[in-house]
Amino acid sequence: MRDRHFHPFVAHRVSPGSVEEPALRRSIRREPVRIPLVELRDRIPEPELMDTAEQAAAYADADFAQPHDALVAMFRERFPGLVSGRLLDLGCGPADVTVRLAQVLPGVQVDGVDGAAEMLDRGRERVAAAGLSDRVTLSRLRLPAPAQHWARQGLYDAVVSTSLLHHLADPAVLWATIDAAARPAAAVFVWELRRPASTGAARALVDAYSGGEPEVLRTDFFNSLCAAYTVAEVRAQLAGAGLRLAVEPVGDRHLVAWGHT
Ligand SMILES: C[S@@+](CC[C@H](N)C(=O)[O-])C[C@H]1O[C@@H](n2cnc3c(N)ncnc32)[C@H](O)[C@@H]1O
Repeated sequence: MRDRHFHPFVAHRVSPGSVEEPALRRSIRREPVRIPLVELRDRIPEPELMDTAEQAAAYADADFAQPHDALVAMFRERFPGLVSGRLLDLGCGPADVTVRLAQVLPGVQVDGVDGAAEMLDRGRERVAAAGLSDRVTLSRLRLPAPAQHWARQGLYDAVVSTSLLHHLADPAVLWATIDAAARPAAAVFVWELRRPASTGAARALVDAYSGGEPEVLRTDFFNSLCAAYTVAEVRAQLAGAGLRLAVEPVGDRHLVAWGHT
């Protein structure tokens, strides 16, 4: 029997601006089950903010302990000297990574920013439950922030971002923000999804890693995989931004860009 999730008649590349592109976007946004099978030579952008209550609740309630502990462990391995100072988490969402970082870095003051109020509400509950309200501050901030914002804030010893880049309409915003917010020689750690080769491969990753999750989370995960960048694209972004960070694939669906400003 033919797999009802896929439409084999559109099993070819969909170019931005082509006749099929609006249909593909509609089908991904509104009917996550009816996904055309296409190569993902180009990314399919998704909305920037995750600001519906349903999205925030599903994301905040999901169990990301394994991947988030793994990325926090990777951060510590790569920056063992970071034991004090100030760390900024860009696009902190419901602060699961933010709190895990604060827990393993007891001497560090942690600031998280996000443009979505719903996410921050969930994040503040998590910070309070972890007993970290004196050391972790979450603020609403839509990137890009005005240049003076970071000067007012004071520069950071470390800037972290996890799963934000693929949401931004312009990826240069992330790299310019890091450049503006970090002090010279600050630690930078950007953890991201990596775009698979096709919507079929994206669907397989969704099934493998969020099989039992609510549909809203599975749809967001699928859309995020389609919106993510490849290692080569991130390297090109960094070259354009003048940031000398290493970019490495991690496992079957992530990449990390890291180093010092
Ligand atoms: C996939 S979530 C990642 C949250 C968290 N970093 C994590 O790894 O669990 C992406 C977050 O980026 C936020 N975001 C997207 N675009 C943004 C922008 N332009 N300014 C600020 N936050 C943004 C969204 O609201 C969302 O909370």
